Amino acid sequence: MSGKDDYYNRAKQEGYRARSAYKLQQLDDTAGLLGEGRTVVDLGAAPGGWMQVAAERIGERGTLVGVDRQTIDDLEDPEPTVEYVRGDMTEDSTKDEIREIVGESDGSGGPVDVVISDMAPNMTGQYDLDHARSVHLVRQAFEVATDLLDAGGDFCAKVFDGQDLDDLIADIEPEFEYVREVRPDASRDSSSELYLVAKHRLTGPVREGDIVEVTIDDIGEEGDGIAKVENFTVFVSGVEAGETVEVRIDDVKPRYAFAEPVE
Ligand SMILES: C[S@@+](CC[C@H](N)C(=O)[O-])C[C@H]1O[C@@H](n2cnc3c(N)ncnc32)[C@H](O)[C@@H]1O
Repeated sequence: MSGKDDYYNRAKQEGYRARSAYKLQQLDDTAGLLGEGRTVVDLGAAPGGWMQVAAERIGERGTLVGVDRQTIDDLEDPEPTVEYVRGDMTEDSTKDEIREIVGESDGSGGPVDVVISDMAPNMTGQYDLDHARSVHLVRQAFEVATDLLDAGGDFCAKVFDGQDLDDLIADIEPEFEYVREVRPDASRDSSSELYLVAKHRLTGPVREGDIVEVTIDDIGEEGDGIAKVENFTVFVSGVEAGETVEVRIDDVKPRYAFAEPVE
């Protein structure tokens, strides 16, 4: 696409409420967020461009919850189940309302597959202030994500670049398999915005680098020992069944982890 404002014209022609719709398309194409049938919570959703894209991609088996402090006009003939919440994400009552709609987490994981946030503060033009407010909004979205995402679920949030970005990423990283910074082509060249894409929510009791003592219950088909930490499976290399060993966690996935005995 030649000029960035072609996205504005294209949105008008293609019936999207906002040019930002193309950012979500590009984020999804890059990071695989909107699989069919997923339950998606869209924060800062007005006027509804992202909701239109999410509705198309999650289809009739999906569920979509759009949240904004401004009114979101109803989508036309959406295929998924769609709910609208009008509220401020810095207030607990809004988070409670979202929780009531999607349901509480059960023992095996949260009820939501993806939390996306395009929330932006009212701009003051003061770079540091706008950045700090944007980071604060991402932290609100991150709280919802950690509360409601299922194991393996994904989180994507807009943030304005600046001095607190590294600390923000450092706080998000342990809760997911990995975090990437993505700058969609549809973002304006002059913009300092980027999107943090955090993939595969980790809900297990161990994290990379942890040292834990485990008992090897069994040996799997690949030859690795199989142990449990609070019902969470840990594969341990170079051990025998029945051994109790101290291991270092090397790699954590949403539903299992890999570890090696500590020498
Ligand atoms: C860039 S717009 C979102 C555009 C949307 N993704 C779309 O495609 O139509 C940012 C939105 O964030 C919302 N917002 C900002 N702060 C918020 C807050 N504290 N709680 C809820 N919504 C907020 C604004 O009202 C605004 O509608």
